[in-house]
Amino acid sequence: MTTSEHADPRPNLRAGPDEQSGPSRRSVLLMAGRAASLAATSSAAAQPAPSETPPNTTTARVRLVVNGKEQQLELDPRQSLLDVLRETLDLTGTKKGCNQGACGACTVLVNGRRITSCLTLAVMHDGAEITTIEGLARGDELHPLQAAFIEHDGFQCGYCTPGEIMSGVACIAEGHAATPEEIQFWMSGNICRCGAYPGIIAAVVDVAGRT
Ligand code: FES
Ligand code: FES
Repeated sequence: MTTSEHADPRPNLRAGPDEQSGPSRRSVLLMAGRAASLAATSSAAAQPAPSETPPNTTTARVRLVVNGKEQQLELDPRQSLLDVLRETLDLTGTKKGCNQGACGACTVLVNGRRITSCLTLAVMHDGAEITTIEGLARGDELHPLQAAFIEHDGFQCGYCTPGEIMSGVACIAEGHAATPEEIQFWMSGNICRCGAYPGIIAAVVDVAGRT
């Protein structure tokens, strides 16, 4: 048996990359790169193109009488009354605060009853009469409670004010405004982050005493 028949089975660590048996470091890196780019291509292909998103074709016909004006609307049934007022009818006086029923900024009257419009769907009020802050004044003449808010300094930033006024109007109409404590209780769902409560209560007391 010659020396050449007893070849050393260990890898030749002195040999250059191309001389070693098995894949070279360069070819392993190239293969890994190709595999990564193939994976990226197939994952992109799995995502639906924007145009493939199924369109929302379901709409509902809803008739609302908003501030005395009839509105025939074709609405997405998932739209809240607040979003329809603000975004469809451009009545942005009604404010979106928490959008989850906790602050009262979105208070409007539906058939004379105050509700938080962020918590109700517009389609649920087909045929209803809605009053928003824009519907209170008579031309240039402010509603007495709007005027009283100015007179009694019932606001600072003003963000909660439309909801406070709508709630105050309903509170007086409900007969829940006999005392400041009663007003505090029945308007406790309307939050004023500026803390303008003394002026708000004074304004409601003032108007309630005149009606
Ligand atoms: Fe509706 Fe706050 S925005 S309760
Ligand atoms: Fe600013 Fe009420 S006036 S939140």
